[in-house]
Amino acid sequence: MPLETEARAEIRSLISDLEPDDGKLLDALHRVQHRYGYLSNEALEVIAEHLKMFPSHVYGAASFYDEYRFDPPASTTIRWCSGPACRLENSNGIRDAMLAVFDLKELGDRTNDNQVEMINGQCNGACELAPLIWIEKQIEHKRDVVGKLSVTKAIELARAISNGEYIEEGHETAF
Ligand code: FES
Repeated sequence: MPLETEARAEIRSLISDLEPDDGKLLDALHRVQHRYGYLSNEALEVIAEHLKMFPSHVYGAASFYDEYRFDPPASTTIRWCSGPACRLENSNGIRDAMLAVFDLKELGDRTNDNQVEMINGQCNGACELAPLIWIEKQIEHKRDVVGKLSVTKAIELARAISNGEYIEEGHETAF
């Protein structure tokens, strides 16, 4: 068993109340990602140890879901909704316009200064706001939902984010 470092102890304490059982796996993954913004190798090992599962099983389950990530997020993450209602409202145009402003090639890329990344998101039922994006600020642990976007508005938004001039204007929630 690896040495119990301070980081491992902190991860372990996050999931200490979960009984060893693979039915608790998603709960454990969610707690760790919520706390750190991603699932490190160390975190996956600790979860596997605590739930008495094979690390490969834990990694396999986590990699099945889009919302889990395995590297630290950029300072600001633009989560672009790929759901059908947003697609009907030209979300592809919004995605392409924002990628161009950030000078990114595709979803999953991040800017060289690690300030902004754009990733794929799934419909969460807020389709009345289609087309929408979520702007997630890692330090504040805040998520701003910005909906009913047009391409023009998306470009303005992306420029403001790039210039550090973005002010929350959607519905902000913690995440
Ligand atoms: S399709 Fe985008 S929020 Fe439902």
